Amino acid sequence: MVIDCVKDRFWVNVEEIIGSSAAHAELIRFIECAARVRSPVLLQGESGTGKELVAKAIHDNSVRASGPYVAVNCGALTPGLLGSELFGHEKGAFTGAVSRRIGYFERANGGTLFLDEIGELSMSSQAMLLRVLQESKFERVGGEKAVEVDVRLISATNVDLKNAVVRGDFRKDLYFRVAVMFFGLTPLQERGRDVVLLTNHFIRKFGRDIGKEHVRLTSDAEEALLGYTWPGNVRELENLVARSLAELEGDVLRDEDLRFGPALHTGGEASGELNLSSRERQKTDGDGRVRFRDLSLAQKREFLERAMKETGGRRSKMVPFLGLKNRHQLYRLLKQFGLGETR
Ligand SMILES: Nc1ncnc2c1ncn2[C@@H]1O[C@H](COP(=O)(O)OP(=O)(O)OP(=O)(O)O)[C@@H](O)[C@H]1O
Ligand SMILES: [Mg+2]
Repeated sequence: MVIDCVKDRFWVNVEEIIGSSAAHAELIRFIECAARVRSPVLLQGESGTGKELVAKAIHDNSVRASGPYVAVNCGALTPGLLGSELFGHEKGAFTGAVSRRIGYFERANGGTLFLDEIGELSMSSQAMLLRVLQESKFERVGGEKAVEVDVRLISATNVDLKNAVVRGDFRKDLYFRVAVMFFGLTPLQERGRDVVLLTNHFIRKFGRDIGKEHVRLTSDAEEALLGYTWPGNVRELENLVARSLAELEGDVLRDEDLRFGPALHTGGEASGELNLSSRERQKTDGDGRVRFRDLSLAQKREFLERAMKETGGRRSKMVPFLGLKNRHQLYRLLKQFGLGETR
């Protein structure tokens, strides 16, 4: 969808949202548009793509910025208590309701309510939410007086909510109420050089306190970061930079200094052959075998995991299996990829 409503810019904290890709430009444009109106917004994106950051930026740049910003994780709401949590309750409404409680909707009055993981709401919770969105008012549990609030709703989901509608897990009428404006955040892997910009941003952020804000990335490190799949998106990158800087000696961050955490993918058995691009095939030796050091980071991890499995984690077997020179190389790699103890 092309939105063209950006006339003049009124930006708060935008320098904290990093990127230069086309996807990033679209995102910034969306934030600006969404900040101008009060229509409900739905943000959809994989875990760690920045949904919460974007929701806050929309609020901070809207006329509601001086009002409250209330974030609620729908997945953490107890279904039985949802009504009371969202709408509050009167004293004595039920056993344990020893005093009046103001719910999230009322707390967000004049501001923004951020409903995170909205796809986690049960059917009965969805019905409750739909009613308040239709009527713009509600009663506290155990109360009779209708409470009217002026709340701007921003919701987020990391599942495809349209699919949930098709499956019958999410109400269609509620979907159209919450997704008046919609934005799908692009996975980090598809955002090109944003990875490098973000890495440098996090180096400055985490380096500041430990005298490492001037650490420089080598081109090998850049290439490694660009070749990785980022299943945990920006959050994974953020954690990687924090970990790598903490262990770094000196001012240069090389490929082998990158400290990837434990793998996130749950993709079953390692396949028989590694998936090599044609560029990688050119790096093979005479027998058509690829040198380990020429593999991408994702492939190195896959290969290491397979080696651990096939050798039962025995160092003496892993070294030749991987074609390494010695155990020190193996230790370094296992540490780099946060893989478990070997025997
Ligand atoms: N473009 C960006 N520039 C700078 N930091 C970013 C950017 N995108 C995300 N981040 C940072 O990455 C981390 C993860 O972002 P955020 O918590 O907003 O993701 P999320 O989509 O809400 O994830 P989840 O679905 O797991 O809740 C945060 O620390 C956030 O500040
Ligand atoms: Mg989040």
